[in-house]
Amino acid sequence: MADIVEEYTRKADAAELEIINLMIEVENLKNKVHNSSSGDGDVLKALKSKNDRLKYRLEILKRAVDSEENCSSKRKQVDVSDCPLEKDSRNMQSIQEILTEVFGVAVSQSYPDVNDVPVLVLPSTKFGDYQFNSAMLISQALAAKGVKVPPRLVASSVVEKLPQVPLIEKAEVAGAGFVNVRISRQYGRSILEDVLLRGVQPPRVHQRLRVVVDFSSPNIAKEMHVGHLRSTIIGESISRLLEFLGHDVVRINHVGDWGTQFGMLIAHLQDKFPDYLHVSPPIADLQALYKESKQRFDEDEKFKKRAYSCVVKLQNHESDYIKAWQLICDVSRKEFQKVYDRLGIRLVERGESFYQERMEALVPRLKAGGFLEEDDGRWVMWGEDGGRGVPLTVVKSDGGFTYDTSDMACLEQRVSEEHADWIIYVTDAGQANHFTTLFQCARRCGILRDGVRVDHVGFGVVLGEDKKKFKTRSGETVRLVALLDEGVRRSKEKLLEKERDKVLSEDELRSAMESVAYGCIKYADLSHNRNHDYVFSFNKMLQDKGNTAVYLLYAYTRICSIARMAGLSGTQLRSALSEGRSQLSLEHEKEWKLGRCLLRFPEVLSRVVKDLGLHQLCDYLYEIATTFTEFYDSCYCIEKDSSGEIQKVNTGRILLCEVTALVMAKVFDILGLKPVPKM
Ligand code: ARG
Repeated sequence: MADIVEEYTRKADAAELEIINLMIEVENLKNKVHNSSSGDGDVLKALKSKNDRLKYRLEILKRAVDSEENCSSKRKQVDVSDCPLEKDSRNMQSIQEILTEVFGVAVSQSYPDVNDVPVLVLPSTKFGDYQFNSAMLISQALAAKGVKVPPRLVASSVVEKLPQVPLIEKAEVAGAGFVNVRISRQYGRSILEDVLLRGVQPPRVHQRLRVVVDFSSPNIAKEMHVGHLRSTIIGESISRLLEFLGHDVVRINHVGDWGTQFGMLIAHLQDKFPDYLHVSPPIADLQALYKESKQRFDEDEKFKKRAYSCVVKLQNHESDYIKAWQLICDVSRKEFQKVYDRLGIRLVERGESFYQERMEALVPRLKAGGFLEEDDGRWVMWGEDGGRGVPLTVVKSDGGFTYDTSDMACLEQRVSEEHADWIIYVTDAGQANHFTTLFQCARRCGILRDGVRVDHVGFGVVLGEDKKKFKTRSGETVRLVALLDEGVRRSKEKLLEKERDKVLSEDELRSAMESVAYGCIKYADLSHNRNHDYVFSFNKMLQDKGNTAVYLLYAYTRICSIARMAGLSGTQLRSALSEGRSQLSLEHEKEWKLGRCLLRFPEVLSRVVKDLGLHQLCDYLYEIATTFTEFYDSCYCIEKDSSGEIQKVNTGRILLCEVTALVMAKVFDILGLKPVPKM
């Protein structure tokens, strides 16, 4: 404790001294300007640059004071076992971002005339921890202005101007003009100890956004297939990620609950169950009902006509037709809910039907605005590149609306009523053109304003082990509930094979079984680049080696058990830390390697948010687990004698185990996996 106070006092003194020096320099420069008759341009420039530096140092001093205040307040509180999100909580900042900022300052100090060169700071494993890579670009930019400065010289000027920040231990010019940066272990330790005391905090986001995530979105009366399962898993994970970052997320289930297919379903329902208004029809098998009605629709002209008239009546909200429609939707809804319950998914259902009135109001506006063109009886709308690709069909030749119409009305609703800053659609890659055109058209007619971000998060097809579209043996689409059942059955088999039933209670076994089953299905999906097709294979996903959920869940329970084995509870560890009796150990090369890996958490999140590619988060989780193994293999946490009696507990290392478990648990949480304490 005394050490820490001393350290901070020293830092604050040094920063203050520097600021005073800078102020004196600024004063001198001001006098110079004042005295020089011509208003010396160079002096002005120097003055401005000193001023910038002064501001920057002030900012750093402020941060140091903040963090000192945080540190001393956290050291007073002992039991923070559930780590509530405090208003003043310190964010876990991305080191890469801090370095980019700091190098940015140094670059503008050294070369104030070079503006457009990106400041590149990348993590590096070979030399140093991070590397600054912009010297070549700056040298080129200078050359373009007729100034010749070799990259190496650029690099050393930048290093010279590098503000002193506690994060950087050493910055060295290397090779043709790289700057290798070593980050300070002391700084790393303070961040990781903070995680132990306060839980894993998200990195600071610049603005809290309202985000609509449209995912899952199956179609009523048709089955929810593996494509919808992918959308559900990916959409849920994106929502969790954005929520963790502090955004305001609305999960929307845009179910296909409207359209002409309801005409034939209702007409068929009326024939098959004439008293459906009084007695609930037994239509558990909606797909059969769908197939039968489709067949009649295709073969029987009279039925077809009736089906069309049913659509009109439904859209006019005639009560008997609404009742029939609700009956049908309820059956599907119950089926969908079974899948959501098992996977722990909550969604707000807002299907296509919700937009009927909005479509009716929107279409005349689009017509009046001159955005629609007549095409063979239909009304279509072209995107920006008008005339190429496929336009949206806004009104069909029979006057009805389409998927396109409802998506346009829906987009408008999300922008103007939901006040969304960001809208994310998670569907198969096959709908990419639909969304590209939709976004273009929405921009054209002003529904989509600048400043609202829209993303279509596409994904590839799910394949069977035969590399063909995923089907059952008999060629049918796989029912999701059956798939989840099989997952549970197989994971049970696996656990029994390992004789876990002898160690675990019945409850523990069941939790482990479900955690593994649903975890492995989710993880297999998320760990692949979503743009690629992926092969669904229980055999592969249930392997306990490699980048699989099973391996990671085991690794996690093992890490959690280390502190248990040492007889130390989370609370004991935290008070040892907050009272200054122990500190997290980062001296050994492998400890520091693991520490640096954990410190990269915020920058991994930033990367994932950029392209919504969750596989990068999975890769990171796997990297934590393997780096942990490296550490554990070479660093004793608990020393035992030959009889197995504990001789020595290395608390500093147990703290490192704990922080690893905390970061892993947070990643599991974002991915929607539920680790169990025992497996
Ligand atoms: N129901 C559609 C399907 O099954 C997905 C809907 C996606 N969301 C949207 N707003 N278009 O393909």
